[in-house]
Amino acid sequence: MEIDWAALRAAAIETMRRAYTPVSDFPVGVAGLVDDGRMVVGCNVENASLGMTLCAECGLVSSLHATGGGRLVAISCVDATGAPLMPCGRCRQLLWEHGGPELLVEALPRPLRMTELLPHAFGYEDMERVTGPVGAADVPADLARWRGRGTVFVHPDISGGTTIWTGYWERSSGEPGSAEEKGILEEGPNLPTTAAAVAWGLVRTPRVVVVDAEGGLSWAGEGEAPENIRQRWEEEKP
Ligand code: THU
Repeated sequence: MEIDWAALRAAAIETMRRAYTPVSDFPVGVAGLVDDGRMVVGCNVENASLGMTLCAECGLVSSLHATGGGRLVAISCVDATGAPLMPCGRCRQLLWEHGGPELLVEALPRPLRMTELLPHAFGYEDMERVTGPVGAADVPADLARWRGRGTVFVHPDISGGTTIWTGYWERSSGEPGSAEEKGILEEGPNLPTTAAAVAWGLVRTPRVVVVDAEGGLSWAGEGEAPENIRQRWEEEKP
């Protein structure tokens, strides 16, 4: 994806001018390119309760989700002089989650990748080693009557240069020749690991199929795999 750094910087500067900084008088603006091509922005917002300060990057990430989600591909963060500003430690963690290791952050003399700004990052994988899958959301109330039916297909997606896992819940059980209703009940969220996406599926239905990047199918559901899926999905243990 083509990154227009000048446009990002210009949007960051414009947004920096709207920052609310009665305490520090240190306005910050940030603009980010999203993987669907749109641009999102944020500015810092301070508060009399000093520890409550919202960094510009917090606004950016909120705006990312408020305007449709997706992954950050590149950001430009600037100070009052319009020069690139390095995100603070907390915001590096925040950016990591919404852009991943390949997110580019404007810096001089060249943009830096998130892995350079936050090496050995903490992530869900570290939690999952101890707790098992995280992020398996409950079934929405309007779909509760479908619980236990249909099939969840779990698959990887490349988003902002990093692989995430997601899935969809399909009405049909996929039995050959059956006259069941077809169509998607629910699209899954972006999840950090296959195990998390499988867990999202198992909350919905015992029929969970993992579709790998090459289109290969493996069974992550309960009980015997159906005849057309020979392989069983195994969670990778580190
Ligand atoms: N600030 C940001 O908005 N982003 C950063 O990454 C660095 C710090 C803000 C927070 C506070 O309002 C001011 O800059 C001074 O720390």
